[in-house]
Amino acid sequence: MSKRFYITTPIYYPNGEPHLGHCYTTIAADALARYHRWVGEDTFFLTGTDEHGIKMVKTAADLKIEPSELADRVAAVFQEVWKELDISHDDFIRTTQGRHKTAVQEIVRKLQANGDIYLGSYEGWYDESQEEFVTETEAKNHEFKSAVTGRGLVRYKEPTYFFRLTKYASKILEHIERNPGFIRPESRRNEVTSKLKAGVDDLSISRATLKWGIPMPNDPGHVIYVWIDALSNYITALGYAAGDRSRFERYWPVDVHLIGKEILWFHTVYWPAVLMGIGAELPKSVFAHGWWTSGGRKMSKTLGNFIDMEKIRGIVGKYGLDSLRYYLLRAAPFGSDLDWNDGDFMKAFGELANVLGNCLNRVVKMIGRYRGGVLPAVVGELEEIDRGLLARMAGLEGELGKAYENCELHHCAVLPLELARATNGYIESTAPFGLAKDPAKAGRLDTVLNISAQAVYRALVGFLPILPHKAVEGLRQLGVDVSGKDMAELLGSDVPAGQKLGEGQPLFPRVE
Ligand code: MSP
Repeated sequence: MSKRFYITTPIYYPNGEPHLGHCYTTIAADALARYHRWVGEDTFFLTGTDEHGIKMVKTAADLKIEPSELADRVAAVFQEVWKELDISHDDFIRTTQGRHKTAVQEIVRKLQANGDIYLGSYEGWYDESQEEFVTETEAKNHEFKSAVTGRGLVRYKEPTYFFRLTKYASKILEHIERNPGFIRPESRRNEVTSKLKAGVDDLSISRATLKWGIPMPNDPGHVIYVWIDALSNYITALGYAAGDRSRFERYWPVDVHLIGKEILWFHTVYWPAVLMGIGAELPKSVFAHGWWTSGGRKMSKTLGNFIDMEKIRGIVGKYGLDSLRYYLLRAAPFGSDLDWNDGDFMKAFGELANVLGNCLNRVVKMIGRYRGGVLPAVVGELEEIDRGLLARMAGLEGELGKAYENCELHHCAVLPLELARATNGYIESTAPFGLAKDPAKAGRLDTVLNISAQAVYRALVGFLPILPHKAVEGLRQLGVDVSGKDMAELLGSDVPAGQKLGEGQPLFPRVE
């Protein structure tokens, strides 16, 4: 039985079109999913849309349409965009789907049976832009505005069902402290533990004044609070509480919930509490990445620095999808905040073209020119410089494995690039052009050509999760077909001597 890997993105609110932020999380999750598939793991990658809540109702009202119409329209846009960006998700869950609604009601029923839910009344502040209840102190500290979006808080006063979050708080704290890998990166853990230590209240989990949502099973006059509804997607999509639980049994607990840092609290406190309440295992890890700004400022339509789909499509059309993926993932250590900058994008593109593309092109062209396009075998003794590059190649699999395990996506992008850079250095130092002029050095030339080809081959294989199209295209130029092979097989074997190479084409053609 192969190892399993389950990864999720947040389910996005379909109250506005996808933008850079959504693309970033989804592309990062896609790279992780592709890596785990390449190493042969039984992988499941989930994304979707979070369609209930007041935010959806308000946007729909502004547009003079029903929330369901808004949800249908924008969920379709998200699906279309993921297709355009070639996202390899295995399922797309919409919280308005029947499979989700019935399972959420079952989850709430279980919590009720467990004595975790009681009727009370709520009076306090609500951040509608974040769909979050805010304590009096927090509200005051932020001048009664949302800490994330700056929009004004709203005063709510209504009867509501409460979930006994207080019952689970100390257990959650203990879990976080005992499992250092639960909240990643490590630098984010403190923010959750200190808030937990400051004390939590029970959580209001129903709204009697809202119709757009999943009805409380015992009291259809209330709808279930959108975060309980939303978080449950991670298991309802696996068929939890459905007739066929085989997916749930196969993939739960999740390996990585990949999220933006602003929703860490919900994923590491509310969600574990619900899971404890229904007797399910907790996620293995929640990884919170940083936020993108643009040109040094918060992305905003009015500032004109918003990286929307039009801008993203322009980049993809001109420089290719893989260049965008590479730029996004190597822009900063994964977990840190990032800033979109056209100049930095061009630098990243230049790096792919000049380091990786150029390396491949040199290797294929030299083998074409000197050996009629057939890969020569290594001849004679290896030299120190050969052994140096071979050792780097041999290290790649382990280094990549560690980087992917730790979700260090910037390393995952840089490691294969640095191998290509080292290969360029090797070519410069061994000077095959000079060797080709001296018939006595034909054996040495064979060796240099072979080792250069093996090195760029491994750089391309290492890039498969991040540059899924360009890596395959580059490998084709080396005469390698990757289908049916996993990463260990590919990295552990050489391109065989005698192999006929393909045409040498620039992998990242110059863009005017
Ligand atoms: N619906 C909730 C999530 C429920 S998950 C059970 C939600 N949706 S959202 O549409 O607002 O998407 C938030 C997510 O989009 C963030 O967590 C992050 O993954 C991504 N991003 C949105 N803007 C972003 C940036 N500016 N930068 C990076 N990612 C951000 O919250």
